[in-house]
Amino acid sequence: MTTERPTWPRSPTGIAYGGDYNPEQWPEPVWDEDVARMREARVNLVTVGVFAWARLQPGPGSWDFAWLDRALDLLHANGIAVDLATGTASPPPWLSLLHPGSLPVDARGVRLGIGSRQHVCPSSPDLALATTALVERLAARYAGHPALVMWHVGNEYGDHVSACYCDTSAAHFRVWLQTRYGSLDALNEAWTTTVWSGRIGAWDEVMPPRVAPGPISPAIRLDFRRFSSDALLACFERERAILARVTPDIPVTTNFMRPNPGIDHWRWAAREDLVSCDLYPDPLDPLADVEVAFAHDLMRSLGRGRPWMVMEQAMGAVDWRAVNMPQDPAVVRRRNLAAVGRGADALLFFQWRAARGGPEMLHSAMLPPGGTDSRGWRQTVALGADLARLAEVAGSRCVPAQACLLVDWEAWWALEQEGHPTDALRYRDLALWAYRPLLELGVPVDVRHPEDDLSAYRLVVAPNLYLMSDAAAAGLTRHARAGGTVVVGPFSGIVDAQHRLPGGHHPGQLRDLLGITIEEFWPIPTGTVGVGAAAGEMRPRARVEAHGSVWRDAIDLRTASAVRWFTDGPLAGRPAVTRHRLGSGEAWYVGTVLDGDALTTLVGEVATAAGVDRQAGRPAGVDVMVRERADTRFVFLVNRTRERVVVPLEGATGVDLLTGERVTDAVTLGPDDVAVVRSPGDRSHA
Ligand code: GAL
Repeated sequence: MTTERPTWPRSPTGIAYGGDYNPEQWPEPVWDEDVARMREARVNLVTVGVFAWARLQPGPGSWDFAWLDRALDLLHANGIAVDLATGTASPPPWLSLLHPGSLPVDARGVRLGIGSRQHVCPSSPDLALATTALVERLAARYAGHPALVMWHVGNEYGDHVSACYCDTSAAHFRVWLQTRYGSLDALNEAWTTTVWSGRIGAWDEVMPPRVAPGPISPAIRLDFRRFSSDALLACFERERAILARVTPDIPVTTNFMRPNPGIDHWRWAAREDLVSCDLYPDPLDPLADVEVAFAHDLMRSLGRGRPWMVMEQAMGAVDWRAVNMPQDPAVVRRRNLAAVGRGADALLFFQWRAARGGPEMLHSAMLPPGGTDSRGWRQTVALGADLARLAEVAGSRCVPAQACLLVDWEAWWALEQEGHPTDALRYRDLALWAYRPLLELGVPVDVRHPEDDLSAYRLVVAPNLYLMSDAAAAGLTRHARAGGTVVVGPFSGIVDAQHRLPGGHHPGQLRDLLGITIEEFWPIPTGTVGVGAAAGEMRPRARVEAHGSVWRDAIDLRTASAVRWFTDGPLAGRPAVTRHRLGSGEAWYVGTVLDGDALTTLVGEVATAAGVDRQAGRPAGVDVMVRERADTRFVFLVNRTRERVVVPLEGATGVDLLTGERVTDAVTLGPDDVAVVRSPGDRSHA
């Protein structure tokens, strides 16, 4: 971005609260009740028009903005700010039928139909024209509208459709490759097309990785994923450019999903004014709290520490899983307050009023079909009241973390390809596996890209670096030599950015950092193998103290030493975890998926050795997050357990903003309870 862009909406002040609001689904008299109820619940920001394209443009050349004018006027008159959506995530049926080429084609060559949403080919020129016409009109019409405080482009890019395999996309893919490689020779080299007679003799021979009789080169698949993320990003950019030109004072976002594997969030976040995300943890998932906390830290980090938004979440149940369980209201409350603790200044839901028909009519809402005499509504009102009590927290920043987790979408895409020792090693699982110990140990975490400057972090944890650039490998090695501590998870340092082996033993680019070599991989197809601690220098102890699953490396120690050993199976007596001192720092390698408790113990040892603060005195299962502004400090204490706990305050006496009570020495929290203690700041992080 060339000019300075706004990074947060000018209003509402305080923590923003609200949800998707779809007035087009309701007769206008209902709108009056909507805004009255919004005020009652202290809703101050709503996202309008995410799926309203067909109402705004009922046919080619015909436009109807009058209803949206009235909706925005009404919201503004009631003090409710608007995050106005561009509506481009679901083109109207007439448009898709008029331009069938705008519909996406899957890898089998099947053109997808209408009737749902995201039925778009990102490379379609017809779609580009149609979205440009719509967004130009929206921007011009609402540029001066007092309700408009931010723009919401598209919706969850790459969620339903992350790639299109049509001929137009193929042509765009070729242009993208020409830019990346410059010549066919460079392309053939990068794709190693000498294998299986794949030499590309002319650019027209390049095809997207459509369904083929057997495996397709992982390098081709990887580049197609890169291209597809960029193709969607170009759609976002097209709209953003219009909005930024016409409304330079209004920030622009698009909502990430969960995060999803379809789009490279680092590249996207760099082009957004502010980061927003949809979070739908599964109440039946035992790792839901870990996933949510990880997503919070990731979103703050994608925004480089600036405030971020939860754009969507469910007040109760969703409707799109095989089993849709309502969420416990106390858990919804504590997760939302934890999101604020991790830097969110806006908490929105899907959706304000439950739809009366269509695909999502059984999805929960802020205002359920039963109206105000409902648990859901009481929950909506109660959360609004909580957030109003936290108004002064808005705009403060999370204190800097001493640890970071490395996450890279290119590594994610490359890891989950065919032809690997096992397909059970999944990127998201590894990210949560590595994040969980840090959460349990009370170590605040930022998330970083492997090529970022890591010098601010004492501890760097890389769940998986199957693919890594030479620059990332050099940066990590430099970081350890300079005194940092690096922990690397299994199947890392295998391929470079072109998806080629760097040569020599694995882990190619990480041999110097880790001080080990790996000749073979011995995946664990089922069950677990025993892992024991080292008893003395280089001697395995037979006692099983932990378990590893899914993955196992045949590690040879070079300049590293072993700290855990396999105790049974074909690699019994060989290292499972290694430690390598280099320069004034060190690097650890974890060559199996250690069970959670064992990994927590290990990361605890590493964090202590690295001198990372561990929030001493914090009871297990209580998260402590700190935000600061000028001379004020806000300490969030979130009890994730079902027990009553007493949390010592370590001198942070002050006022619990949620209860208004003065607290000294310690805070007692009931199950799922939260306190937000305001106290004078120490300025050491400011
Ligand atoms: C989201 C989507 C919303 C709504 C919601 C239901 O993924 O952005 O439009 O469908 O899911 O949970």
